[in-house]
Amino acid sequence: MNHSKIISVSNQKGGVGKTTTALNLGVALASENRRILLVDNDPQGNLTAALGYTPGAQKYTLSKLLLTMIDSPEDIALHIPRSVIHTVNGVDLIPANGRLADAAARLQILQLSQLSANYFPEEHLACEKIMAALLSPLRKEYDFIIIDCGLKHELLTINALSASDYCIIPVQAHFLASEGIPDVLTLVKSVRQRFNPHLEVAGILLTMYQSRPQLCKSVRESVAEVYGEKYHVFERPIEQTIRVAECPAAGKSILEYEPQNPAAESYRNLAQEVLRLG
Ligand SMILES: Nc1ncnc2c1ncn2[C@@H]1O[C@H](COP(=O)(O)OP(=O)(O)O)[C@@H](O)[C@H]1O
Ligand SMILES: [Mg+2]
Repeated sequence: MNHSKIISVSNQKGGVGKTTTALNLGVALASENRRILLVDNDPQGNLTAALGYTPGAQKYTLSKLLLTMIDSPEDIALHIPRSVIHTVNGVDLIPANGRLADAAARLQILQLSQLSANYFPEEHLACEKIMAALLSPLRKEYDFIIIDCGLKHELLTINALSASDYCIIPVQAHFLASEGIPDVLTLVKSVRQRFNPHLEVAGILLTMYQSRPQLCKSVRESVAEVYGEKYHVFERPIEQTIRVAECPAAGKSILEYEPQNPAAESYRNLAQEVLRLG
């Protein structure tokens, strides 16, 4: 039986805390003795860098795996072990760098040829399902596979969502908090209809929450008011703290960097909520 869960951290808006959430949720779940694979699905390679690896120096990356899956799927089992880094942070990582943009372009070409073809040979994978096919054999090795999505290259995000059981939507807890949410929800809906009926929104996560009680309370209330009926809003927002911003340079999560920090506690709390997912 397969109980592993694949979770995309997604929001097409930048700087909302996706990468920070993927990393810290992953480390928090690993400290609960779960086997965790993080997948850097952003050509910027921020997640790779935040774990202390130089993106440009990585030879075996998500890009290579996607291209292998397209061109010579019979070789994929050979390539996967090379592409998984066992980090000192207790999580495994499939890294990314700028080459991922090439893979995205390749997916787009594939999409065009699939659209223009009069027939679609059954043995060919749809360009939206390449990542799902790639990650599927890894499910037995991990309890959670967490995919950090980027901004551009919608096909990469569609691939991530097609491969996922859940998505988490981080939003910045400013007065424009809900900016970006409608776009993700539209994409989720479309992926659910076309490629992956199992995809569910695990919840909306408020990030970079400032200690201005009045303002934050109202942001929380307004997000809950607009989306709370249909979607879960995670219990505890992630506090904005300079310590979290310092973490990438140290190659650590906030849980390792300053375990007592309120944001570390919030990410541990998020991990508990994720462990309760159905
Ligand atoms: N809770 C937080 N407190 C302070 N800074 C944060 C927090 N979460 C993220 N950041 C910082 O904000 C920036 C954007 O976060 P990031 O996770 O990279 O967003 P995204 O992946 O959505 O673009 C990064 O510099 C990150 O270190
Ligand atoms: Mg990011």
